[in-house]
Amino acid sequence: MIIAIDGPAASGKGTLARRVAAAMNYAYLDTGLLYRATGAKVLALGGDPDDVDMAVMAAEKLQPEDLENEDLRREEVGNAASRVAAIPKVRAVLLDFQRHLAKNPPGGKHGAVLDGRDIGTVVCPDAPIKFFLTASVAERANRRFKQLQEKNPAVIYERVLNELEERDARDSARDIAPLKMADHAIHIDTDRLNADAVFNAVMAHIRTHMGEDD
Ligand code: CDP
Ligand code: CDP
Repeated sequence: MIIAIDGPAASGKGTLARRVAAAMNYAYLDTGLLYRATGAKVLALGGDPDDVDMAVMAAEKLQPEDLENEDLRREEVGNAASRVAAIPKVRAVLLDFQRHLAKNPPGGKHGAVLDGRDIGTVVCPDAPIKFFLTASVAERANRRFKQLQEKNPAVIYERVLNELEERDARDSARDIAPLKMADHAIHIDTDRLNADAVFNAVMAHIRTHMGEDD
């Protein structure tokens, strides 16, 4: 059983996916972390995230511990992530890992929840349940601003907003696996919904789907 959750930056994918995975006792994979860790590795080497050879090497050399770095949440790492994410060979390297994990959830679990940009369209096009979260850019920038502010009180709202808009535009316009709602995905506009309301709505859809399968 695979549940796909896609959407633009700070739409609430990770918060939702983590809770759904816990409620269902499924594995959770934050696929954005793979791109963030790849981008962070290139930056740490003093490289340019648009440098194809370096980005591919960084993706190929990813280790599980690379995903645990606190700095991966920073907006400049998000920017580097979306640059390496536009490189087809980087996506190919990371795709195998994502598909393998989706089909073989660790810990003997019976399912997996994956969140990202292309889970429903490319990584797991056969996933039986797909969600696509959206919210206005102002609301999403506000959410991300609050998250970043907890770690760094000096963060500037306008910069967060600009970086988020730039990243969304790049993620939507790229040729390979662009951010796009999959056919038959359930669209949830979260603008005026808190995380609990989104979770409850999503769990209701999942229960209906599971009931239909019995
Ligand atoms: O993973 P993604 O970037 O899509 O978003 P997130 O990091 O899960 O969520 C961004 C922030 O929005 C978190 O602080 C959430 O608590 C908050 N939030 C949410 O997830 N869902 C809502 N409906 C409203 C706020
Ligand atoms: O949490 P947030 O939504 O801000 O970003 P993320 O999910 O951690 O993803 C960071 C970047 O990785 C995105 O801006 C995309 O460029 C890329 N990404 C992707 O291309 N495909 C995915 N399945 C997940 C992330």
